[in-house]
Amino acid sequence: MMYLLQLVVVLALFHFSSADVVADPEAYMTAIDLIKYWGYPAEEHEVHTADGYILNLFRIPHGRRSRTNSSCRRPAILLVHGMAGGASEFLLNPPPSCPAFLLADAGFDVFLMNHRGTTYSKRHESLKEWDNKYWQWTLDEMARYDSPAVIDRVLEISGEKGVYWVGHSQGTAMGYMTLADSPEYNSKVKGLFQLAPQGSGGYTTGIIRAAFWLYETAKPVVDFYRIALGSHEVSFQFPLVYRPLVRLCNIIPGGDQICDYATHYLFGPSSRTLNITRAPVYLSHIPSGTSTWNALHWAQLAVRRTVEHMDHNPAENVRRYGSETPPRYNYSRIDVPIYHFLGDADYLGTKAEMDNVLLKMLRKEVVKELIIIPGYNHIDYVVADDCAEMVFNPIATIVRNQESGMCEH
Ligand SMILES: *[C@@H]1O[C@H](CO)[C@@H](O)[C@H](O)[C@H]1NC(C)=O
Ligand SMILES: *[C@@H]1O[C@H](CO)[C@@H](O)[C@H](O)[C@H]1NC(C)=O
Ligand SMILES: *[C@@H]1O[C@H](CO)[C@@H](O)[C@H](O)[C@H]1NC(C)=O
Repeated sequence: MMYLLQLVVVLALFHFSSADVVADPEAYMTAIDLIKYWGYPAEEHEVHTADGYILNLFRIPHGRRSRTNSSCRRPAILLVHGMAGGASEFLLNPPPSCPAFLLADAGFDVFLMNHRGTTYSKRHESLKEWDNKYWQWTLDEMARYDSPAVIDRVLEISGEKGVYWVGHSQGTAMGYMTLADSPEYNSKVKGLFQLAPQGSGGYTTGIIRAAFWLYETAKPVVDFYRIALGSHEVSFQFPLVYRPLVRLCNIIPGGDQICDYATHYLFGPSSRTLNITRAPVYLSHIPSGTSTWNALHWAQLAVRRTVEHMDHNPAENVRRYGSETPPRYNYSRIDVPIYHFLGDADYLGTKAEMDNVLLKMLRKEVVKELIIIPGYNHIDYVVADDCAEMVFNPIATIVRNQESGMCEH
């Protein structure tokens, strides 16, 4: 069904193919090509999860100017993308404002996760991408299976004892959930750097709020869909459609205004200028796929304003959890230093979420710093041209102060 739809849209677009001519070559590359294009070393590693998913883990082992240097150390750092993000979200800009490149040049061994179902992690040992069963997972499975497998692989490849975690949006939730669900991983994670921290999602505003409201209103229909039709892919990468669409921002009169509004109501009223000319590059690489179950899980959390496992139905809950209601995540089990970065113009990772959900769940001793960034919305962490100064240089400085002998670049 989905693929038929894609085919129809592709054929229709042939008609408008002149709209799909973008000057930036990055709009036609894969994520690994992007890394090589800017002169960085790129590696891909296979990660097998305990439930059979095969993930693609990217690595940028060192910066652009550096050589192999045995007299200094490169701490391992893992970038964990948001929902519908994919590793590409950390690779969208040229080096001076590109998260992954900034960290590689700051002396890190950089790893980029692609969780199950996203563009570069669509394989499974026995299930196929078009099987309904392939898509039957939520945050719970990503936290239970994807993160532990990826962390172990990072330690194996880098030879480090622990890894620094940088989460963005849903990637922050995965960080908390992973350590709460598998507390033995506290000893393998040296710290969480949480950008746009997500608790329940219950304190979001803008268009996403409306989606949660719609879920609440149409719950019987949604439940019927979930039970009768299982789980499917949503928000998949589709450059052939998104690229020419976003090009309209540049070519129709008033287009830039419309695209500005769309960004505003989705992600928040940023004080930074989004480079609309580069938007076709962004929309060639994101969104990346997730499952309808995952979206549903988020809607449940947002409506209930708690952080708990997916609520399937009483019988299925008993089978999975041994109780009719889903158990809450216990964030008191998290035992690593946490640094929060919060944009005060962000509609999705909000101060209210921080105060009402996260700070109530986390133990005070582990919460180290709350860095408020004036004027940042939800995507500025990865696309704003001052993200080095606001986010990634501060992260490098914090790590450098606690690691001895870290490489200069
Ligand atoms: C905006 O993006 C275009 C296309 O990638 C690029 O040529 C231009 O330098 C960018 N402008 C700014 C101010 O970064
Ligand atoms: C949560 O975890 C903490 C630390 O392990 C423990 O002391 C506490 O009893 C747990 N709370 C619940 C409700 O399970
Ligand atoms: C190797 O790292 C050390 C410590 O950071 C630095 O002093 C030295 O200049 C580096 N050597 C090379 C060839 O980059």
